[in-house]
Amino acid sequence: MLDRLQDSPPDALLALIAQFAADERDDKIDLGVGVYRTDDGATPVFEAIKGAERRLLDEQDSKAYLGPEGDKGFVQALIPVLFGPAGDMGGLIDGLQTPGGTGAVRLAVALAQRAGITRVHVGTPSWPNHIPIIEDVGLEAVTFSHSKADGSADAEALLDIIRTGREGDAVLIHACCHNPSGVDYTADQWDSIADALADSRVLPIIDSAYQGLGEGMEEDAAGLRKVLAKVPYALVAYSCDKNFGLYRDRVGAFYVKVAKPDELSASMSNASALARANWSMPPDHGGAAVRIVLGDEGLRKVWLDELETMRKRLRWVRAYLAGSDNKVEGVPLAHLEEQNGLFAMLPLGKDQIAKLRSDHAVYMAGSGRINIAGLTKGNIDKFVAALADVAG
Ligand code: LMR
Repeated sequence: MLDRLQDSPPDALLALIAQFAADERDDKIDLGVGVYRTDDGATPVFEAIKGAERRLLDEQDSKAYLGPEGDKGFVQALIPVLFGPAGDMGGLIDGLQTPGGTGAVRLAVALAQRAGITRVHVGTPSWPNHIPIIEDVGLEAVTFSHSKADGSADAEALLDIIRTGREGDAVLIHACCHNPSGVDYTADQWDSIADALADSRVLPIIDSAYQGLGEGMEEDAAGLRKVLAKVPYALVAYSCDKNFGLYRDRVGAFYVKVAKPDELSASMSNASALARANWSMPPDHGGAAVRIVLGDEGLRKVWLDELETMRKRLRWVRAYLAGSDNKVEGVPLAHLEEQNGLFAMLPLGKDQIAKLRSDHAVYMAGSGRINIAGLTKGNIDKFVAALADVAG
């Protein structure tokens, strides 16, 4: 029976959290799991969320079940944030709340499967959980190259998948702040991607986990909006974990875009049934807090200001690393300034990553991914020197 089970390897990224905590060196640097950090190295609760939570504490009068859709007010409030002035495109978009962006990705893949999708194309490297989710649902994951050695996006590889994909194919695309590379498609590339998808049988599944951490709230959604304006069908996974700082509260949303309004109920009823079978209903607290922030002019402004502060800090780290390019031989840093969001990939080998950890107390993913937000005015020079040491 259960003795037939073999050990499953721990998630390497999440294992880093415990390894970092156990390191007793004072000057250790955590560039592992993707959480935002201030210049003091903290990941505080947003002021806007604190304000919403105070209100929730006073005003929430029941914790009775809401149903598999979760908080529909939250789901509706996010629609203009994500989809912009087009809103629900005249009744073509609807969604439901999910446990984090992960729940939304899972739901999108499972619904795609119900709709006859058998393969999902994934640009690699990708978030290490994308392929496990696809395979756990029972679909085939097929990889293509996401980025080029010069630090730009390999849009041709994606366009090729879209143009040659067959019936039953889906493609998973990151909306912005690509995890793990930070390499996003340019505005022109998004135009080509949207045009190609419009003429293709390949179903787009767009994962938007970092809106607001790249160029800005509108800018970070522009590519996704271009695609949705052109394609008949799309599935979208959204995470509020980073842009509202709600990580452990697991706040996400799943959206479906259809060609005709009367097609929505079939997609949504199937999505609800899948949600019910998977987690029954999502946790309420974080979604309710987001709904309150988005519905209150004052709290919304506080939130947008907090996001801008985060964005500026990430830009500062990127510019500083780019400016240190000449200090590190063999690890190009200049292009980091052009990339977006929390992450960047450094071309380091396993031994170099291990040496960074053993000799310099620098913790980063084994893939070469660093969390840009782990660098501060206080530790960035030490990091650059450590990099120069292992690269040299
Ligand atoms: C990350 O990539 O570090 C985050 O999305 C956290 C996670 O769940 O992997």
